Amino acid sequence: MPWEDKAILFSILLVYSSSQVLASGEIQEDGQCAELNNTRWQEYRQQRVRVEVQYLLLTRRNPDCAQKFDQDSVGKPTSYFNTSRPTKVIIHGFSALGRKPSWVTDLAQALLGAQDANVVVVDWIYGASFAYNLVVENYKEVALQISVLVNQLQQKHGCRLESFHLIGVSLGAHVAGFVGTMFEGKIGRITGLDPAGPMFKGADTSDRLDPTDALFVDAIHTDSDHFGISIPVGHVDFFLNGGMDQTGCARSRFASMYGYVICDHMRALHVYMSALNGTCQLTGIPCASYEDFLKGSCVDCGVFKGRCPAIGLQEKSGIATSPVPQQQKVFLLTTSSAPFCAHHILLTLEVSPLDKSAEVEVTLTTWSQGTEHHFRLKTEATVYRTVLAHPVALCQIDSIRLRNTGARLYRQGDIHVKSVCVSELPLRSHEAPLCVNDIDIRRGVPWSHDFVQVCGTS
Ligand SMILES: *[C@@H]1O[C@H](CO)[C@@H](O)[C@H](O)[C@H]1NC(C)=O
Ligand SMILES: *[C@@H]1O[C@H](CO)[C@@H](O)[C@H](O)[C@H]1NC(C)=O
Ligand SMILES: *[C@@H]1O[C@H](CO)[C@@H](O)[C@H](O)[C@H]1NC(C)=O
Repeated sequence: MPWEDKAILFSILLVYSSSQVLASGEIQEDGQCAELNNTRWQEYRQQRVRVEVQYLLLTRRNPDCAQKFDQDSVGKPTSYFNTSRPTKVIIHGFSALGRKPSWVTDLAQALLGAQDANVVVVDWIYGASFAYNLVVENYKEVALQISVLVNQLQQKHGCRLESFHLIGVSLGAHVAGFVGTMFEGKIGRITGLDPAGPMFKGADTSDRLDPTDALFVDAIHTDSDHFGISIPVGHVDFFLNGGMDQTGCARSRFASMYGYVICDHMRALHVYMSALNGTCQLTGIPCASYEDFLKGSCVDCGVFKGRCPAIGLQEKSGIATSPVPQQQKVFLLTTSSAPFCAHHILLTLEVSPLDKSAEVEVTLTTWSQGTEHHFRLKTEATVYRTVLAHPVALCQIDSIRLRNTGARLYRQGDIHVKSVCVSELPLRSHEAPLCVNDIDIRRGVPWSHDFVQVCGTS
């Protein structure tokens, strides 16, 4: 492979730049909007050049009607590209059926809502369709073409490399990573939305997205057991609901193809768009593993000096520590639909020693919404902890209910609960948990306690 040596890469880059490989497309006539292309199997087979890349530009001046874009259109009076604004580059991934990705305009508009920027959409559908393994061969070619464009914008039009933010979905994340490699990590930011896993997990860091590809790299993981990558690839890696199976994504074989195959993988994108909308904060808690996180072993953002990283456009995901840690896994739970934000409630149950195993169901309720958890109590332990996703904040929890759901095979006696406590993550030293102490819960007799709380301003 001639890709190994960066010197060679850069000389290729220069050759590409001087020979006009990019079609000097005309800006479309007024009123005509540029669109992403579809491709069909027949067309695909007839294409002699497998990788064709075109660019679409959206800005706040044309958020609904994309303009065709290339290095030659910059500077023309009709172009909406503004060289003094930051540039977001959206890169789609594999498309099994050759269909144009339908979410692109939504993402572009969400970005424009959050920031006055140039949004450049990379359309490489001709290279991204049909056979995944062939597509993987194409991704560096696409990266090379994007690099030519970025290089031109930098050299000829004075755009700063730090002002570029590449947002890659699935395989597009590794395309972005390779563009970053070409610029030796000097691109401002790369965001990977469920970066592709198959054929990349074991790959060399120069062949996949990694923290050296940009000044800051963040990634959201939602399907790391199928299409996504399971290893951290950025400075900060958000693992949603553990990074594998997402709430609300059907797991039944009777579910639709979308629900079954792609829902988990595309959740990263939907959560990201929701975060850009800014209705609520999606922040994560650093932890070594999801199991530890769920067990309540990680309760604050001490490694980030108390600032929990947030999904979205905040600089360095809102982290203020320097240097930025690398490959830091952060975990968060989400709800099953937009805007996806959940409050992380740490629930702790302490019981007197039992002589038989037992089961206790705990329900936290706010208005009519309840969050439930079953603790399986064993004879050898007395303290149980878990982290739950509740739709509203701790101060809005109205009541807590306990039921002794008992063992099925023998009569379960009373369970003496020394305390049941709830607190919200990240834990803050000045906030005491809400606790109820000394309760006996009898089999079949539900116990509940109402909280009278006022939400302060914090
Ligand atoms: C996309 O389609 C348009 C019109 O159908 C065509 O002019 C253009 O060449 C196509 N782009 C690519 C990259 O094939
Ligand atoms: C380009 O962006 C700069 C900075 O936001 C702004 O001051 C300027 O007016 C913009 N130019 C045009 C033509 O919109
Ligand atoms: C973002 O906000 C708009 C307008 O409020 C809404 O129509 C859209 O559904 C939201 N998108 C997401 C992903 O939350």
